[in-house]
Amino acid sequence: MSYENITIDQNEKVAILTINRPKKLNALNRDTIQELHNALMELKADDTVYAIIMTGSGQKAFVAGADISEFADYGIEEGKNLATKGQEQLFNVVENFPKPIIAAVNGFALGGGLELAMAAHFRTASTNAKMGLPEVSLGVIPGYGGTQRLPQLVGKGKAMEMIMTAGMLNAEEAKTYGLVNHVFEQEQLMEETLKIAGKICRNSLVAIGAAIKAVNACFAHDKDGYQEEINAFGEAFGTKDFKEGTQAFLNKRKAEFPNK
Ligand code: COA
Repeated sequence: MSYENITIDQNEKVAILTINRPKKLNALNRDTIQELHNALMELKADDTVYAIIMTGSGQKAFVAGADISEFADYGIEEGKNLATKGQEQLFNVVENFPKPIIAAVNGFALGGGLELAMAAHFRTASTNAKMGLPEVSLGVIPGYGGTQRLPQLVGKGKAMEMIMTAGMLNAEEAKTYGLVNHVFEQEQLMEETLKIAGKICRNSLVAIGAAIKAVNACFAHDKDGYQEEINAFGEAFGTKDFKEGTQAFLNKRKAEFPNK
């Protein structure tokens, strides 16, 4: 498939999905959201891809938010539709993706940009990264899951302050908050994030997919996370990856997972 607003590269088993509108600081317009959705469907079906790193093109921004020019004249129903469609098409897809998605935050991650990074399974950042939810400064609130995922990641009080002040955290503050796991110099960000992704790729993709589901159940109000874990744990015993992983351990060799 060909794309206008994103690029996909592959480094061994890791796909690098780059939002590529640098002149607009990679702001998420409708087309970009649609393309990201299509790309994720493509990467899900691609057996050579085990993990995905999402990042932004250029040195300045991961994603500077939803494209303000697209919704500036919207009314109430259009606003609701914008949030519903975006959450369904992209943000929930990222969160529930069966393969690991890491956001490499290489600059501004604001509004929809931080919401996209927060939907990813975890985050790394470059030292120049700046993160915030500035929506209330525009007279609106986060609409792509920010009011839900930010308190999950940093706690209610810090989330409230970030949202109310519309302020930005720098990379070290974001790490202290638990919003990002690691901070690297910008030139090292991709290489170091690829190293983390490489470690992940040695493990069973089937088991990782089940773990993503079980961890996400912890935050889903309609699910019993402990029961989800019991079910996924039991299911794992029926996989070829489990047989391979345990046999490899017992025979003192490296596991070669069939991902089945
Ligand atoms: N939507 C649409 N366009 C955006 C954008 C967004 N969220 N963020 C940046 N851009 C565009 C700017 O309009 C500008 O376009 P232009 O060159 O055609 O005028 C271009 O990207 C560069 O941005 P600029 O503001 O000139 O860069 P800066 O370095 O002075 O400031 C930011 C950087 C991130 C502080 C600033 O762009 C900003 O505040 N962006 C909006 C952030 C936001 O509120 N996001 C939440 C949206 S809900």
